[in-house]
Amino acid sequence: MARTGVIADIHGNREALVAALAALEARGVERLACLGDIVGYNADPDECAAIVRERRMLTIAGNHDLISVRRLGFGRCANNAAYALRRTRRAIAAETAAYLEQLPMYREIEPGVMLVHGGVRDVQQYMTNRSVIEQNAAWLREDFPGARVCFFGHSHEQKVYRVEGDCVEEAAAQERHALERDALYFINPGSVDASRKRGEKLAECALFDPHAWTLELLRLPYDAAATEAKSAVCGYRLAPWAQGMYALVGRMQALANRVFRSGWRRARAR
Ligand SMILES: [Fe+2]
Ligand SMILES: [Fe+2]
Repeated sequence: MARTGVIADIHGNREALVAALAALEARGVERLACLGDIVGYNADPDECAAIVRERRMLTIAGNHDLISVRRLGFGRCANNAAYALRRTRRAIAAETAAYLEQLPMYREIEPGVMLVHGGVRDVQQYMTNRSVIEQNAAWLREDFPGARVCFFGHSHEQKVYRVEGDCVEEAAAQERHALERDALYFINPGSVDASRKRGEKLAECALFDPHAWTLELLRLPYDAAATEAKSAVCGYRLAPWAQGMYALVGRMQALANRVFRSGWRRARAR
């Protein structure tokens, strides 16, 4: 029952990762858990993977980790994510790829405490509302009976959901949470990487004490300007004109598909 620092969605952002780890270590964490998406979006995938490896974090794979080593395709990626991941595929060292290739899809870090990246059964599912949490609570009870805390990432938002029977409640946004021992919790520690967030850029993470059954959510400043400049110079950012072009091509493809399908239906009806 070690005091556990929980981090997610580092996305190659070394400056934010260093800030999160410094804050967690200052609070006396005894071990670290990482919910995946170590790479993608930013320019330090090898450096971040090396830190995760060297700290012996209890880690699982995120969709960006899987895509970067071709364990998953680009099918459900937004244009800017796919662009940065193509760059990541070209950039990562063999050692990083070997590490990402062997990451498990989920893990139990101690009895009753699970790590998943997106949803319980779908690494790319966004758990962003109470009905999705209710569905995933049912899957969690089927797949991992006895689980009482499920840490998840992917949606990049600090959230605490309490589940009791069929009732799902979202906890108020606050720094400290005293967890109830007879309830089930879905907890997102937030995203270490804040490069995609509007407004203040803060590295997010959590401190979980499985002995006291408490949770602390942290939000920390880091040198976001340095991360952004490096990512732009190193080719991880899709230019605004290119984003517009991708959007136009996407709309034209959708229109062509609609025209093709209606023509096909008319031909079959004849
Ligand atoms: Fe992510
Ligand atoms: Fe993700």
